[in-house]
Formats: sequence, C-alpha cells, structure tokens
Amino acid sequence: MSEVLKKDIHTLLHGDFPAEEIKGKRFLVTGATGLVGSLFVKTLLQGNRELGLDCIVVAVVRNPDKAKDIFADYLDDEKLSFVVCDLATDSIKTEETIDYIVHAAAVTISKDMVTYPVDNIMISVLGTRNVLEFAREHAVKSVVYLSSMEVYGQLFVTDHKIKEDELGYIDLAAARSCYPEGKRMCECLCNAYATQYGVNVMSARLAQTFGPGILKNENRVFAQFAKSAISGTDIVLHTKGESEGNYVYTMDAICAIAVLLLRGEKGQAYNVSNVESHMTIAEMGEMVATKVAGGRIKLVFDIPEDADKLGYAPTTKMHLDNSKMCALGWTPRVSLQQTYERLIAYMCEA
Ligand SMILES: NC(=O)c1ccc[n+]([C@@H]2O[C@H](COP(=O)([O-])OP(=O)(O)OC[C@H]3O[C@@H](n4cnc5c(N)ncnc54)[C@H](O)[C@@H]3O)[C@@H](O)[C@H]2O)c1
Repeated sequence: MSEVLKKDIHTLLHGDFPAEEIKGKRFLVTGATGLVGSLFVKTLLQGNRELGLDCIVVAVVRNPDKAKDIFADYLDDEKLSFVVCDLATDSIKTEETIDYIVHAAAVTISKDMVTYPVDNIMISVLGTRNVLEFAREHAVKSVVYLSSMEVYGQLFVTDHKIKEDELGYIDLAAARSCYPEGKRMCECLCNAYATQYGVNVMSARLAQTFGPGILKNENRVFAQFAKSAISGTDIVLHTKGESEGNYVYTMDAICAIAVLLLRGEKGQAYNVSNVESHMTIAEMGEMVATKVAGGRIKLVFDIPEDADKLGYAPTTKMHLDNSKMCALGWTPRVSLQQTYERLIAYMCEA
C-alpha cells in the first residue's frame, strides 16, 4: 500500500475519526472501487488492523478485477467481502447483516455525461432506489448518499456563503444537467424513503474531493494540474477558469461521511467542503504553478471554439457554507496547498 496513503489514513484514525462509535459495526459501501468508496473501505480495514475496530465491510463493485487490484493488500482479510453487481440492474445480495451504508456509486466522468445522459440518469436513480430498498428491507441504522455541490446549479445570489436550502438554476435542456439533476432527484428519493418508510438517510453534498488514493487513470482537473507540476509542463486551461471551486481533502471527506452516518439528521443534506479552500480554477492553477511547483511551470489558456460540446460544467460562482456539517462536530483539517503536496507525493511514489 502507498506509504503516503497509509500515513493519511493513520492520521485520520488517530485523529478525528469516530473510531470508538463504529467498533464492531457492519458496513456496505457502493462504488467501492471509486475514489471515495475505496478510501472509506480502506479506512475501515486499516482501522481493524491499527485499532482493532472489528468492522465488517461489504464492498459493492461492478468489476471484480479492478476491485482485486485496488484492494490487493486486503484480499486475505476475512472482514472484507465483495458483492459484484451493476446497481442499475441487479439487486444487492449479501448474507451479512448491515448497520451502515455509504452509497458512493455514480457515473462521474464529464465526457460520459454528455455522451450518455440517459444512462447517467438511470444509473443514478435506479441505483439509488436499489440501495434505499436494501436499506429499508434490512432496517439499516443509517445511509449516507453521496450527492454533490453541483445540485446548486447556477445560483441566483452569490454574495454570501451558500447554505443547504439555497438551490439555484439548472438548465434542463443541457445534456450535462443529467448529473446535477440526477443528484437532486436522488436526494429527493432519499428524503421520500425517509418520509414514507422511515429510512434514516442523509445526503453529503461533496465539494470537489481529492488527495492521495486517486486512481491511476484519474483525469479530472485536479489530477491534470498535479501531473503538470510533476512533469514540469505548463498547466493548460481550456476554459477561462472563472468557476469558483469548493474543495475538500479526501480524508476530511471520509471523516465527514462517518460523522454523518452516526450523527446526521434523517432527510437532511449537508455541505462537505473546506471553506478555506475556496478559489477559482484559474487561481488554483496559479497556486499550483507558483507555490506547489515553485514557479517551474506557468498557467496558460487554450480555449477551443466548441468548448460547450466537451462536457465542461457551466461557469458557477459559489462559496459553500459548511457550518451545518461543522455543527455535528466535524472540522476540515487539510488546506488546498497541502492537498496538492500530499497528492503529488502520492503520485510520485508509484
Ligand atoms: N470526488 C469528487 O470530487 C466528488 C464531488 C462531488 C460528489 N461526488 C460524488 O461522490 C460519489 C463518489 O465519487 P468518486 O469520486 O469516488 O467517483 P468515482 O467515479 O471514482 O467512483 C464511482 C464508482 O461508482 C461505480 N459505478 C458507476 N456506475 C455503477 C453501477 N451502475 N453499478 C455499480 N457501480 C457503479 C464505478 O464503477 C466507480 O467505482 C459519487 O456519487 C460522486 O458523484 C464526488
């Protein structure tokens, strides 16, 4: 296992992670080969090793070969088992009794959103219904649905930090709206299950989440910036980079999800972001070029004429408020610059 990631998980386990409260509990994690799902699973399994947490982990995956690769260090761990299924079509089958569910499965690749918007919507909604049905039938203690800050769309007012009840506008005619609108529908479905069936489910509206643990083929903006810093090549932006980003470090997000499972309020949504890490994409590129790469590279712009066909999210101005999440006893610890430094250390290990 990566030494950087191991240290990251160790720091969380011996810091803010609510380890005592989850001792002996049984977890089901969907999207377990993805960034957030895999880190949640690894944190629990490392918690078993380092703190004797004795947690059972059922990882729901589509691709067993990918799962074997990602969890290579834990394949002989009897606390870990896999359920192989496509959540849009197959029901979840496990003999384990489950206490907590983290629903992290989703289509997150921008290009796929504009190419296969129908699939994106159906996987979101059918997959989430599948998970909620499981939760209902098995009377689980709680479920966290991983939503996104993209549910806010384009805000009507941007002069203050945005709380959970201040949704903006989403253009239903745009193919890419399948993702944010799908997230809204899934949150709504979660709350419907809470109201109609009493399922204890809440939504975590994640800001852009990254850090050590990103997958080898990761190509979202943050990974491209980090690769530029490592290779010493200029950062090229294909938009003006005016969107205001809201970010949260991977391990801070993992901690937030655990806190929500234990202390979140049924049917509520929570912004999971580090308010100190708010900046535009262009400012972030500039920070990576000057501070993280020490000025060895520059930020340059190359904006294509058909940029709207490439699946980039519309320009958004938004500063998320995280006070509702912090009121549950969560504090984000890692700054954006530290995030890049750790991410780059992780990427250079390979
Ligand atoms: N990482 C972020 O910055 C971020 C920000 C906001 C919201 N989120 C949300 O958090 C969740 C996890 O994000 P991530 O970064 O880990 O994404 P990811 O793309 O790394 O992982 C998603 C996982 O879902 C799985 N999946 C997709 N369709 C599936 C299906 N039909 N059946 C079973 N599994 C399926 C994929 O195989 C993958 O393992 C997603 O819901 C995402 O929308 C992430």
